[in-house]
Amino acid sequence: MSRLVVISNRVAVPKARGASGAQGGLAGALNAALKTNDGIWFGWSGEEAEDPSAEPDVQTHDGVTTATIDLAPQDIEEYYNGYANSTLWPLFHYRIDLAEYSRETGKGYERVNELFAERAAGLIEPDDTVWVHDYHFIPLGERLRARGFENRIGFFLHIPWPPTRLFTSLPYHERLVRTVLHYDLIGFQCNEWLESFLHYCRKELGAEVDDTIGKVTFEGRTTYARSYPIGIDYDHFQSVGDSGEARQAQQRMMSSTRHRTAIIGVDRLDYSKGLPERIDGLARFFERFPEGNREVIYVQIAPPSREDVESYQQIRETLEAKTGRINGEYSEIDVVPIRYVNKGHSMAELYGCYRASKIGLVTPLRDGMNLVAKEYVAAQDPDDPGVLILSRFAGAAQQLSDALLINPYSNDEIAHAIRQALDMPLEERKARWEKLNACVRDENIGAWTDNFVRDLGAV
Ligand code: UDP
Ligand code: G6P
Repeated sequence: MSRLVVISNRVAVPKARGASGAQGGLAGALNAALKTNDGIWFGWSGEEAEDPSAEPDVQTHDGVTTATIDLAPQDIEEYYNGYANSTLWPLFHYRIDLAEYSRETGKGYERVNELFAERAAGLIEPDDTVWVHDYHFIPLGERLRARGFENRIGFFLHIPWPPTRLFTSLPYHERLVRTVLHYDLIGFQCNEWLESFLHYCRKELGAEVDDTIGKVTFEGRTTYARSYPIGIDYDHFQSVGDSGEARQAQQRMMSSTRHRTAIIGVDRLDYSKGLPERIDGLARFFERFPEGNREVIYVQIAPPSREDVESYQQIRETLEAKTGRINGEYSEIDVVPIRYVNKGHSMAELYGCYRASKIGLVTPLRDGMNLVAKEYVAAQDPDDPGVLILSRFAGAAQQLSDALLINPYSNDEIAHAIRQALDMPLEERKARWEKLNACVRDENIGAWTDNFVRDLGAV
């Protein structure tokens, strides 16, 4: 079997800066995928260096070989903080109000893609399969082709692809999409993002598109685009749940929330996660149900993320102010209804927290998939499962339709869903959970990797 060369900006390198739990879903998922495939994982170390070495730092941990490079301060500023996280991330999450456009960061993005292509070139052998990930590296495949690589090269976008009318607000949008058509296979998290992409190719590029098989033909090249919903490493997650660390976290949560129902939220501190809107939904619940502040405790785990980007500094301030205000209004001498925890937690600790919580509140305004929703389901006690409340705007909602699906912009819908979850009879909780769990268990990370890599070999 050919080797798999995986390329992503974020790589799960032990002890790297930012490895404290705010690494997000991509790093955890790829780590699991690499464990079962022979190959190498190449990307950024997460570190800054004035004069970065051209030689990747190669390490092997738990059967996964990583090769990482440091980046110069200007590259981090223009490529990572700039074009990737101040232009593409907000735009792709439908936030054109937050998207910034500048020639400098656009150039920095292209320069760093060229740099990664140059460094990756030394790692790729002729019959390797190359799999590039996420919005940081959209043009990377085209850069590898320009260097003469004829390998199978696939691309997976972990975030949404926005509707054409939003996407065309990006200066040079066509140039970016032309580069993505140099991949052999492009994967999306769900059909909605896939449809937006195919719509763009047909309407804006004038490409020939066959929706039934996701075939895009443009200027003599053929690319396939399909949806592959990412999953969690279900078996590994269950084994983590068996650990002393998980049980201890569960115990701590239970003993500190006694006589109240714990509701859990776990999110990187990102404006796409709908955190202030969620707190407003809780406030609405406290307002409508006067004993509500004694009935539930909401625990929000929110590790800081991308702290050098201004919109992330702002969301943190907004959330802190709102949490303080709502807690002030609804606390009593013996009750504090919202706990806001600003640091990252391990998988085992999260398992314990999910299991101790009878409601999982996952309300992103827009999310490619959302693995927290799947982890919450997987961590439940089959005999007494909790209820998942999930935003209809997360990719996960297309699979997890047995959750209570809500509109995250509506305080009333959030408040009502909390009430419904609290009052839900055990039989209904079990019936919903069994369907959710079967989906999370079967459509796991192994299935995701196998399906994508198989199709990449076949197209
Ligand atoms: N996560 C973690 N520790 C934390 C918070 C989150 O390990 O303190 C993990 C979480 O378990 C999940 C991932 O980060 O696997 C978040 O993935 P998701 O798809 O929900 O969102 P993303 O952050 O990728 O946008
Ligand atoms: C999301 C993105 C990933 C990213 C992660 C954490 O999951 O899709 O590409 O790695 O967030 O963000 P960070 O900027 O810390 O890598």
